[in-house]
Amino acid sequence: MKLLLTGGRLVDPATRHDGVADVLVDDGRVVEVGPGLEAAGAEVVDCDGLVACPGLVDLHVHLREPGREDAETIETGSRAAALGGYTAVCPMPNTDPVADNAGVVEMVAARGREVGLVDVFPVGAVTLGQRGVELAELGAMARSAARVDCFSDDGLPIREARLLRLALEYTRAFDAVIADHAEDASLTDGAQMHEGEVSAMLGLAGWPAAAEEMVVARDLLLAQLTGGRLHLCHVSTGGAVELVRAAKARGVRVTAEAAPHHFTLTDEAARSYDPVFKVNPPLREKADVEAVRQGLADGTLDAIATDHAPHAREDKEVEWAAAPPGMLGLQTALALSLTELVGQADPERSVQTGAGGDTRPGHLGLPTAIERLTAGPARCRRLPGHGGPVAPGAPANLAVFDPVAAWTVDRAKLASRARNTPFHGRQLRGRVVHTLLRGSFTVRDGQAQR
Ligand code: DOR
Repeated sequence: MKLLLTGGRLVDPATRHDGVADVLVDDGRVVEVGPGLEAAGAEVVDCDGLVACPGLVDLHVHLREPGREDAETIETGSRAAALGGYTAVCPMPNTDPVADNAGVVEMVAARGREVGLVDVFPVGAVTLGQRGVELAELGAMARSAARVDCFSDDGLPIREARLLRLALEYTRAFDAVIADHAEDASLTDGAQMHEGEVSAMLGLAGWPAAAEEMVVARDLLLAQLTGGRLHLCHVSTGGAVELVRAAKARGVRVTAEAAPHHFTLTDEAARSYDPVFKVNPPLREKADVEAVRQGLADGTLDAIATDHAPHAREDKEVEWAAAPPGMLGLQTALALSLTELVGQADPERSVQTGAGGDTRPGHLGLPTAIERLTAGPARCRRLPGHGGPVAPGAPANLAVFDPVAAWTVDRAKLASRARNTPFHGRQLRGRVVHTLLRGSFTVRDGQAQR
């Protein structure tokens, strides 16, 4: 199928392109980029007033298959991703069974291909069963048909420094990344939310910022010691951002991500006792939100990753203490980034942040925000064909969105099988119009094509 996307503002961080350009797509690839293109026989897709960019890349999702298909499946999660503008997602291995061997990661990748709505790049577990006792067969997963290039025990930290050291050393041989969920479990045992004034008021056991920062510091030292590639999942505290900034300055091989809920919501949300606001790491304080935004603005944090964590209703809609942590993210990440970080539609407008407290938009320019959703995450891993460039010969993995269209998040209308979005009822700006995976519409005019 030959397509000509005309008149859109093309923002491509990989080539630093930002300006109106047409994009000609043929046989799954970008053929030509430039102003006023003509192409006989091509279907014209009018993108006037819209932004075109590389398809979004999510380094951190939970698709729950195998094992909890009642909460999400690779199919429903892929559909939510495509509707969110994504063309690539990286599901975490905390499934049942755990993705700690070639068989499971191959199954996840194959199911992703079968569904065909986004490219699914599974993350393998670092330790067998994510039990933190012995390394999983990292090499076998790397050599498998799934070609795993990133390992994590996400949901849980790698408790033992010795095992993290081994994993960082071993994976140097095939240039893979170890992504850690930084949490000192001895300080968070029984924790229900961020430790601070609000937890003290509510009488809920706290998860101190230090429990994240200690492990981030340890991980950075081990990355330095081994020369291995470290990635830090869902950085949520100002202290952790500062540690990453300092480590990058001294040349440590580290990349880091932040989740939209950590740059939009604070621990004030817990006052509602609504477990939809329970997440791990927890919602922090206003100063942390500002530090995460600053980290994204100056590139200390390379990527916005959703940590999309669907939970079945009967699990999540219970009293706070019994609810599992986690929030949906795939269909709101772009609009939250545009509304809360860019705010370019109307910089004077004060953004309503609802239960999460009040934070300022305007920290990132549009090209920078797009970089953190596309080329930034792609750089943290090997994800062939994703994150741009939008240039002749490259696979046509693209998102097209309206940067100013306002919409209201309605949990009942999300494609995810779960309903646990903390942004229900929130008005956001920025709406995905089309998503293209290798030149085929996965989403067209806001509708998933499968
Ligand atoms: O909130 C979270 N939910 N944090 C995690 O680390 C795991 C995730 C999940 O799997 O639900």
